[in-house]
Amino acid sequence: MSVISLDGVGRDVVLPDGGVLRILTGVDLVVEAGEHIAVVGRSGSGKSTLLNLVGLLDRPTAGEYLLDDRPTTGMSGRRTAKLRGATFGFVFQQFNLLPGRSATDNVASPLFYGSSREFLGRRRIARAMLTRVGLGERLDTMPEKLSGGEQQRVALARSLVRRPRVLLADEPTGALDVDTGSAVMDVLEELVREEGTTLITITHDLAVAARADRRFRLDHGVLSPLADAALQGATADRSAS
Ligand SMILES: Nc1ncnc2c1ncn2[C@@H]1O[C@H](COP(=O)(O)OP(=O)(O)OP(=O)(O)O)[C@@H](O)[C@H]1O
Ligand SMILES: [Mg+2]
Repeated sequence: MSVISLDGVGRDVVLPDGGVLRILTGVDLVVEAGEHIAVVGRSGSGKSTLLNLVGLLDRPTAGEYLLDDRPTTGMSGRRTAKLRGATFGFVFQQFNLLPGRSATDNVASPLFYGSSREFLGRRRIARAMLTRVGLGERLDTMPEKLSGGEQQRVALARSLVRRPRVLLADEPTGALDVDTGSAVMDVLEELVREEGTTLITITHDLAVAARADRRFRLDHGVLSPLADAALQGATADRSAS
């Protein structure tokens, strides 16, 4: 059974002057449970828009999006929000941590919306997740005192604390240097493998894309498979470094 199935999905926006901007066109994508998919593409090609559609933060204007083989079109906002919270975790390029709140508080924040077991156990669950991403010594540290790689590991812990079935990562290493980014990807992959989480990673970095099971390119809103040949330079660079 596929988790995500996009069939001819498009996203248009109507501009203030009445013109129509076609951001995504005819996107077909089927993702099976536990797969790791990477999407690369130039700035403005529609990558974040695609990820927002998959994560139910936005709706297609054409085509059909099936989540667990069920259509998502026509669902109420309330039902969509509930499904989003129960299914997806999000990681962003700019970590988006709450300043002035400890690492534990940041990771615990999604548990406010969980079951009563999650709510009552939130600090314990958050501490356990921070320990798993290697930050057991920094539980009470404020994000502004952490390095970029550490902040992204806090954000990872927060995105996974409710054990989402699908993790959507938008440029998760975009704000990090190559080595730190690679270390963050190691942690991310280990966690999703243990949990069998489906992972979609958006990246500019072909070395990050090379880690996925399957790769796609977005070009002006059109999605197509990325040829393995496109990765050769990136993987050669990795092994050389
Ligand atoms: N709501 C909107 N209204 C108007 N234009 C939009 C809207 N959302 C996205 N766009 C435009 O659609 C295009 C694709 O945006 P998107 O954010 O998906 O690109 P991206 O591939 O993620 O780029 P980047 O790599 O810079 O993050 C951009 O030109 C953007 O300005
Ligand atoms: Mg983007």
